[in-house]
Amino acid sequence: STVRLRDKFDRAITDLRLSITDRCNFRCVYCRSGQGATPVHELPMADYARIARVFLGMGIEKIRLTGGEPLLRHDLLNLVAELAGMRTLDGDRPDIALTTNGHLLAELAEPLRRAGLSRITVSMDAVDPETFARITRVPRSYERVLDGIRAAKAAGLAPVKVNCVLMRGWNDDQIERFADFARSEDVIVRFIEFMPLEEDKVWSRDLVIPLEEIVTRLNNVGDLVELPPNSVSETARRYGFSDRRGEIGIIAPVSHPFCGHCSRVRLTSDGKIRTCLFSQLDHDLHAVMRRGGTDEEMSSYIRQIVDRKEERHHIGDTGFIKPARAMVQIGG
Ligand code: GTP
Ligand code: 5AD
Ligand code: SF4
Repeated sequence: STVRLRDKFDRAITDLRLSITDRCNFRCVYCRSGQGATPVHELPMADYARIARVFLGMGIEKIRLTGGEPLLRHDLLNLVAELAGMRTLDGDRPDIALTTNGHLLAELAEPLRRAGLSRITVSMDAVDPETFARITRVPRSYERVLDGIRAAKAAGLAPVKVNCVLMRGWNDDQIERFADFARSEDVIVRFIEFMPLEEDKVWSRDLVIPLEEIVTRLNNVGDLVELPPNSVSETARRYGFSDRRGEIGIIAPVSHPFCGHCSRVRLTSDGKIRTCLFSQLDHDLHAVMRRGGTDEEMSSYIRQIVDRKEERHHIGDTGFIKPARAMVQIGG
């Protein structure tokens, strides 16, 4: 149907990632600066709900809540419940996922599940507590996150995905231990290549652990077998071990870009649309709402913007310009 969002490269846009705050209680080295207070940008939850409803009317099927740290919003459960009551164009319940650093998850996993959350991804960049604290720059953070992961499983949010951004010299010594973690905790561990999206300018190619190197290291743990993708727009390549215990994903946007099948559009916490993580521009959807725009005016604005979605990122090309906003401001 013509109402469903499609860009000029004929990619169907079915995934909306809503950042609901740019506050975070961690200061991970691959994302935030170690110093300085940053101003807070948040919209009322009712505005994110309205935006989600308008997008669902345009063919969105998956909504991922991100941040910043989304669990810092005290009215999060209401938003999740409201989203869970919405329907896609096909009349189905939308898939509602959340990306969190896990610090507040132990208390919130069960209420989130009851509110209607479908899936959860927890960021965890080391299985060793000291390394973990060095990366997050928050002492004793590891134990709380581990409790959060276990609470999410107990609440029935399985399979829990655990995301690990690998940085050479910081946590690449943890790859094998992470594979053991996936097997013993029964979670899906996904290694992510470090992208130039951090506040501090620390990114360099040398810090990226490419997919092939990760695969080689995982073969030290057991015989790695490739698993078929769950969908064409899936970011992760999936692997298991020949004994069928533990699932691993590798998200390789730097060495193996997946832009050709990109299905994503993002909303920053201050209400701006970003059609790519690496967009040089964002588009102020919330300004349309502040002017008293109708749902129809919002849809036609969205359609215009999405139509011009970037073909791909240019990491590694000469002349690559890092976006002005870091991941904490864009949403994970
Ligand atoms: P599911 O597979 O539905 O669970 O979601 P997902 O694959 O989008 O996973 P998730 O939301 O956990 O994203 C994992 C990580 O992949 C993000 O934190 C980013 O590092 C990276 N990523 C996600 N989407 C994009 C994208 O559109 N472009 C690029 N370059 N990286 C992305
Ligand atoms: N490169 C890759 N992934 C990143 N994330 C944040 N910053 C980066 C980066 N520079 C991802 C991590 C984190 C999620 C919120 O965003 O997976 O778990
Ligand atoms: Fe999509 Fe941009 Fe990510 Fe490529 S870098 S997959 S185009 S959001």
